[in-house]
Amino acid sequence: MRKICVIGTGYVGLVSGAGLADFGNEVICSDIDHEKIEMLNNGEIPIFEPGLKELVDRNVTAGRLTFSADIESSILNSEVIFIAVGTPMGDKGEADLRAVESVATTISSNLNSYKIICTKSTVPVGTGSHLQKLIRSQCDADKEFDIVSNPEFLREGSAVKDFLLPDRVILGVNSDRAETIMRDVYRPLFINETPLVVTNIPSSEMIKYASNAFLAVKISFINEMANLSDKVGADVHTIARAMGLDGRISPKYLHPGPGYGGSCFPKDTEALVHTGEQYGVQFQVVKAAIEANKTQRHVILEKVQDLLPDLNGKIVAVLGLAFKANTDDVRDTPAIEIIRGLVDAGADVRAFDPIAAENMKKYYYSDLDTRDSVVETVDGADLVIILTDWNELRGLSLEDLKKRLRTPNIVDARNILSIDQLKTFGFNYRNVGRSRI
Ligand code: UGA
Repeated sequence: MRKICVIGTGYVGLVSGAGLADFGNEVICSDIDHEKIEMLNNGEIPIFEPGLKELVDRNVTAGRLTFSADIESSILNSEVIFIAVGTPMGDKGEADLRAVESVATTISSNLNSYKIICTKSTVPVGTGSHLQKLIRSQCDADKEFDIVSNPEFLREGSAVKDFLLPDRVILGVNSDRAETIMRDVYRPLFINETPLVVTNIPSSEMIKYASNAFLAVKISFINEMANLSDKVGADVHTIARAMGLDGRISPKYLHPGPGYGGSCFPKDTEALVHTGEQYGVQFQVVKAAIEANKTQRHVILEKVQDLLPDLNGKIVAVLGLAFKANTDDVRDTPAIEIIRGLVDAGADVRAFDPIAAENMKKYYYSDLDTRDSVVETVDGADLVIILTDWNELRGLSLEDLKKRLRTPNIVDARNILSIDQLKTFGFNYRNVGRSRI
């Protein structure tokens, strides 16, 4: 059992803090946002993440997890400090490290004993060495600390499971002392034989970007295959499944759609390209994946216009706003650009999302006409477009939908509806890469 403090209580920090407590560690989750800490201390979870409340409650009750807005005392009381603050995209695509640096400065003045300073946030290669120098320059020469890189691989919507049952744990270390302590922090996982990769800090930092960029490339790749499938009468799902049967390829992240969104792939791919440029390395494949991803939003809009060439005054029902199912996150969600395109073409847009509608209004479209149910959204519409793969939308009654629409047009940008049923009920439909089957 180790004494840990996790600074930053966003998706990553809160899930990691609660998960580390579940592994038996004593964890303080700390944040400068007093309101958030107050909510957490009142048993409320500020974000939507399935299973997180149960995980937090369990560990608070067991006395292993606490919350504090006093970052300094949280650091003073801990041996391992995880930095889990945001690293948003800067003006030139780079990762903005100001929050990470500010935490590092606070740590510098609170080194009352040996501490491990561990980056959990996604930080570009070289950050570990930068923090080492920064903290060293700000503290007395006799202060002892080690930098560790321990990137997260949490998917929003399944972050709790991803933390408790990870595919692998990566530790970038530069001392045996730090390695021993970090192994101890994750001890229960090794008992379960979770693969552990111990490497140097730059390799660990790159593993995170390489993994996210590779997955983004896979998605853009299959989206382009889907676009060709549409033209030639092929079925992209059969193609993806058959490709995936080759163990060298794997079937995962080969599901076509409106392009990847969220707070990670768009930002991390840009940041990787930016880092490459700093070192004179061209990331041509990743750049192409970024461009293809931007194009994919327009491909979906073209499908809408294929069904309804003149959108002026037409009612379009948008079902799904979150960048993926099981999250209320709308950062870089394909819905942002697709709604903009519909509105620019003169459509009257109504939208529904089981939980992300409020965030869409708060951060992107304050005057978006959002409705509380699918029925209210689709009644009298000229076209329905599905943008998020919510289970609630998978189970739509197409018979009922058909009766409610003014004209039975549907663009299933997530390929979640049955083509047989769409045909049976006489819909004019488009999907991504299997329209002609
Ligand atoms: C992603 C990674 O999967 C995590 O491993 C990583 O830790 C995280 O970023 C991060 O860097 O913090 P996340 O963005 O939460 O996680 O969600 P994913 O489930 O990976 O989906 C990302 C986007 O790709 C979504 O828009 C999703 O709809 C899209 N996607 C995913 C596809 O279009 N097709 C697929 O086959 C898979």
